[in-house]
Amino acid sequence: MPLFVILTLFPDAVTAYARESILGLAQEKGLIRILPVDLRDFTRDRHRTVDDRPFGGGPGMLLKPEPIVEAVEWIESTYGHFRKFALCPSGQVFRQSLARQWSSEERILFLCGRYEGFDERVRRLVAFEDLSLGDFVLSGGELPALAITEAIARLVPGVLGHEESSTRESFAAEGPDGQLDCPHYTRPRVWRGLEVPEVLLNGDHSAIEHWRKRAAREKTSRRGPASAPFNSIS
Ligand SMILES: C[S@@+](CC[C@H](N)C(=O)[O-])C[C@H]1O[C@@H](n2cnc3c(N)ncnc32)[C@H](O)[C@@H]1O
Repeated sequence: MPLFVILTLFPDAVTAYARESILGLAQEKGLIRILPVDLRDFTRDRHRTVDDRPFGGGPGMLLKPEPIVEAVEWIESTYGHFRKFALCPSGQVFRQSLARQWSSEERILFLCGRYEGFDERVRRLVAFEDLSLGDFVLSGGELPALAITEAIARLVPGVLGHEESSTRESFAAEGPDGQLDCPHYTRPRVWRGLEVPEVLLNGDHSAIEHWRKRAAREKTSRRGPASAPFNSIS
């Protein structure tokens, strides 16, 4: 069962999200495990201090190196070797092809930074790969860790109700991260004067498949290459 360890100052926030919906169900079924580990458990002073001012001055605080390195050492001595990612805006940008690649990893660890990040010496002692959720700055690594965990976990066999779902979604195909999903409709058939495309209502499965493929191609070409900024997505 794949194990995702999330090293964080906010384990309760991680637990709250991870016990809901698909991730919660997947854990109940024993298909994955998500384990938040509190960095403060690896401090040695009575204030459980995890941060300090940066040498050289400047705004903000930094995560101290000792709790991070000691936490990783304890985690690996307890559970075994992990593929380790340090979340930071300057890392490799995550995408669906990486989710596919990493869905066969047995153990993945995410280090969630806070404040201005963490002491650079951590990287000399732990083989972290730097990973980003995108070219923007958040206040911590918890949302990226959860988002990336969810993207990977959805590809673990059994996690999605319909195995077909993950192969029909946006970016599912090989290539430059594949095609986008087609538009979808549900009841009511007419709502505020807007009608569901007729082809979806007539039960002709090959016509429906043909329509879906064409609509997906059109949507993909409106957006442009996968790495391009979004223009008008419908
Ligand atoms: C305020 S940010 C630090 C930003 C850092 N000083 C910089 O300019 O690159 C605090 C923490 O949030 C997390 N974070 C922020 N944006 C992120 C992103 N786009 N992807 C992954 N992690 C991010 C990282 O763990 C980071 O250490």
